[in-house]
Amino acid sequence: MKFAIPKHIRSLEPYTPGRPIEEIKRKYGIDEVIKLASNENALGPSPKAILAIKEALPYLHRYPSSSGWELCKRLAEKLSIKPEQIVLGNGSDEIMGLVGHVFLSPNDEVIIPSPSFSIYEKVACLYHAKVVKVPLSEFKIDLDEISKKINSKTKLIFINNPHNPTGTIFTVYEWENFLEKVPPFVIIVLDEAYIDFVEDSRKINSLNYLKDFKNLIVLRTFSKSHGLAGLRIGYGILDAPLAHYLKLVRDPFSVNSLAQIGALAALDDEGFLEKTRKTIWEGKAYLMNEFKKLGIMTIPSEANFLLIYLADKADYICNELLSRGIIVRSMKSYGMEEYLRITIGRPEENEKLISNLKQIWAKV
Ligand SMILES: Cc1ncc(COP(=O)(O)O)c(C=O)c1O
Repeated sequence: MKFAIPKHIRSLEPYTPGRPIEEIKRKYGIDEVIKLASNENALGPSPKAILAIKEALPYLHRYPSSSGWELCKRLAEKLSIKPEQIVLGNGSDEIMGLVGHVFLSPNDEVIIPSPSFSIYEKVACLYHAKVVKVPLSEFKIDLDEISKKINSKTKLIFINNPHNPTGTIFTVYEWENFLEKVPPFVIIVLDEAYIDFVEDSRKINSLNYLKDFKNLIVLRTFSKSHGLAGLRIGYGILDAPLAHYLKLVRDPFSVNSLAQIGALAALDDEGFLEKTRKTIWEGKAYLMNEFKKLGIMTIPSEANFLLIYLADKADYICNELLSRGIIVRSMKSYGMEEYLRITIGRPEENEKLISNLKQIWAKV
């Protein structure tokens, strides 16, 4: 019997993750593999989170807190907002889906920058909404052009700051100008997965705008700067009455207990956060300088990754690096086949990348 899979499901593209370390070890028969492909934390998980999780293991027979009250309370204190404004998710990916669940109906329009994080498009497709793509302008999200695409069918706008895969940010002027142009019936999802890595002191403080713009949803995650990608925990910050609806549609136990406990401990691990930032900023300066010496164009990034331009050599170099046990991210699935995205690693990982790249570069 043939199952009738709806067209909008059949047309979904599978997510292209960074290649797993074990797969590369098997494929090339090598013991040492470094992964600079998924923008994970170069230093591992927050040590305070590891300790707290170990202590929580005997209680795994209990269901997790459905509301995540402890974590929401602590987050609210830290961010000077109300706990009711926070929605926890199984990664910020889950919150993106919840937003689709609450706001989207067939034939609505969703505006996204192109290229951009693939889950935004997936969410729109899942709810039969039309995706309106707005190309980047000089590697930056073109907020002005996005605002021009809004019409009466527009329900959602997904943007990220810093942007993945370029690492660029927008200015306060661009942001405020944009906010004024978006009608209140259009939800703006501002994904700040990489916000802790921003070095530029002129970065926007998104939470300051929540009071005046009830249509704003800010997304953050513990996956990057706190090093907890494997636990799957992120959160949305939004107006409390809207947050209520996101919580209504969420699976009550989607955020597991270890994730809640780990995140709570990581939140107060200031030392780890500082060390992470320092590692990224120093690694970024080192890598940018080395790429420059090789004549490789790099997009100035405010995130924990760098996008580099390698023209028609990108695919070859990506595979060569793989065969030497260095996983970087091909940008083919982003429609940028001439680029590679490289997560900034620990100093020794960055040095290994550069010494191998130099050898490959000399031959291309
Ligand atoms: C822009 C952006 N948003 C969100 C995520 C995913 O966050 P989480 O692990 O919390 O689902 C990523 C992961 O790479 C990302 O690049």
